[in-house]
Amino acid sequence: MRLFKTDMYNTPDTRNLLDHTRQGVIGKPLDRPEGPLKVSGSATYSAEWKFDNCAEGVLVLSTIAQGTVETIHKQPVLDMPGVLAVLADEAMTRRSTQGTAGEAPVQDVHTVEYFAQPIALVVAENFEQARDAALALKVDYAISDEPIALDPESPDAEVEDPANSEPVKGGDLDQAMRDAAFAVDVEYDTPGHASAAMEPHATIAQWDGDHLVLHGSYQMLSYNVKEIADCLSMSPKKVRIIAPYVGGGFGSKLGITHEAVAAAIAAKELQRPVRVVMTRQHVFQTVMRRSETRQRVRLAADATGKLIGLGHEALVSNLPDEDFAEPVTQATEFLYSGENRLLEVKVARISRMTAGSVRAPGEAVGMQVLEAAMDELAEAAGIDPVELRKRNMPDKVPVEGTPYSSRMLAEALDQGASAFGWDQRYATPCQRREGEWWIGMGMASAARVNMLVDAEARVTLKADGTALVETDQTDIGTGSYAILGQIAGEMLGLPIDRVKVMLGDTSLPAGAGSGGSFGAISTGSAVMRACEDIRKRIAKALGCDAEDLDIKDGVASAGDDSRALTDLLDGKDFAETGSIKPGKTAKDYSQASYGAFFAEVAVNAFTGETRVRRMTGAFGFGRVLNAKTARSQCLGGMVWGIGSALTEELAFDLRDGHLVNHDLAEYHVPAHADVPAIEVILLEERDAAASPLQAKGVGELGICGAAGSIANAIYNACGVRLRSFPMTLDKVI
Ligand code: MOS
Repeated sequence: MRLFKTDMYNTPDTRNLLDHTRQGVIGKPLDRPEGPLKVSGSATYSAEWKFDNCAEGVLVLSTIAQGTVETIHKQPVLDMPGVLAVLADEAMTRRSTQGTAGEAPVQDVHTVEYFAQPIALVVAENFEQARDAALALKVDYAISDEPIALDPESPDAEVEDPANSEPVKGGDLDQAMRDAAFAVDVEYDTPGHASAAMEPHATIAQWDGDHLVLHGSYQMLSYNVKEIADCLSMSPKKVRIIAPYVGGGFGSKLGITHEAVAAAIAAKELQRPVRVVMTRQHVFQTVMRRSETRQRVRLAADATGKLIGLGHEALVSNLPDEDFAEPVTQATEFLYSGENRLLEVKVARISRMTAGSVRAPGEAVGMQVLEAAMDELAEAAGIDPVELRKRNMPDKVPVEGTPYSSRMLAEALDQGASAFGWDQRYATPCQRREGEWWIGMGMASAARVNMLVDAEARVTLKADGTALVETDQTDIGTGSYAILGQIAGEMLGLPIDRVKVMLGDTSLPAGAGSGGSFGAISTGSAVMRACEDIRKRIAKALGCDAEDLDIKDGVASAGDDSRALTDLLDGKDFAETGSIKPGKTAKDYSQASYGAFFAEVAVNAFTGETRVRRMTGAFGFGRVLNAKTARSQCLGGMVWGIGSALTEELAFDLRDGHLVNHDLAEYHVPAHADVPAIEVILLEERDAAASPLQAKGVGELGICGAAGSIANAIYNACGVRLRSFPMTLDKVI
């Protein structure tokens, strides 16, 4: 059997080791090993670690959007019971970051750039004292006379090209629109979103000499260490972050946030451990948001429905000088035909907390709008929406000419349609009524770019015939513990209960972290490579070629030769560190995960209320590493799609810039009663260019377009074509 060594991780016609190992754990719907700890409350989350003499810090947030802090009246608060310090350090209050160490703008503590910017930390013996003092702290501000843009539509908002992306331009879109047999030129808007992770951001900091240890809730620990070190002007080698359990991130924990730096500074100042836990309101107001968007989509099709032109232009927002601009057109670049195209994002500079990556940045909101516009084209052209998409799958990425590594879009459309019963749909709206409810069906494609990033992992095959996987990869509720154990178990021929996985500690080899749907495939590839090296050592001990080695249930064999691993190891451990880097294939191929959504909704004829009745999603993302955790990711994505379609919306008060709905009581994410039966179909696929595992990312795929299928179902139900998300009852009626 040929093992991959080169940049192409086995061509499609080359055999992949994981298709020939016999342990039978890879891909299986195994439970998460840490699940019982989580549901029984015995998994320790960041705020829950116990330290002697731990002081408590509470952040103080600005009550103006723009201006300067003139005076912080510390003394009256320092005289309050239990209060230890009032800190207002520049590093502590700088903007939350994006996982980009060294690039986050550092701001003067005296400058306020958005409402609820952290400006100080009050530390006390206990939380109640700290909170009391934080509420009592008097701050004098000088409010800026400059005009403040609190909204991207404000005439005072400066609109710029993003720092990190170029528009895609090809041919002549205007001419294509004039030549089109069917054309759609529409404008949609999507609101800001909160990441809304269940666990609020929390850090406990303690110093040991000049070494800093943080128990903090973060997604990308090896980056986060660099960010902290950068903020505190110290060596990253002297910072350790421990985060074995993270209660969701959704992008909000990609970078460090204020409480981590504040806790570190306070712990140093007071020479004792300090815990800073953000309240839910703090998280909503200061941690990154997803930008609202205004999107113009132009679709020009010939008489057969084939796109000859495609325009997707978006206006998003962020604070001045921030590099991130919601990459709305990311999937539009490669998804459909149309050589005449203009894809462009502009960013308005406004006074709101940092905009950053939230749950599939780019595709989540870009696809929901593109797919709604495609539905408008399908109707204009009189072509079934599924068929329209199949007619517009290009051979190569338009304009760029890049080939696709793999693409299960047509299969997802067909299998999803068949499982859902798409043939029962009426092509024209308002055909199906049950009591006071209009019933309709809608669909959308799913697409999300695939990324492989640097990762390392150490695997030790122990003398006792068990294996240990170690990396600082996080598990943010996604299944890292299960998946990495399965890869090692499969590669080393061990039942899953003989594999232990240790994660979330930067003293371990640097994994990819959890973000961008790249965690499982990147860190998983590093685990696979470490195991490959261990297999070579096992083969050597057995006296066979690595290609001929077969291991199952702890017994290694080649031909007629067979010996227990414990025997071969002879009292020794085999430890290897594996690593992965994105190779040439990352540039040579367009790599993405694909899928299709189908939704049935009921729209109340009298109230305009929409209830999602059922949804089906079919997805292809290369090799499935764990069918249960992959399905859960897809389910979760579709639930977020329901939120995005119907309820989620950050509401800012344009008088002073404050976020009005800054908690989960008023920012509405779908609750159980909002989530109907959801069917998930996982398609079998291999992607030789994506990773040694031949797997692609699945984490964020399930949201990318989901809301579009619901919007399209609303139109099909009641004939109301809304172009503004969320599609609340006031808009429908
Ligand atoms: Mo994801 S928004 O990259 O955590």
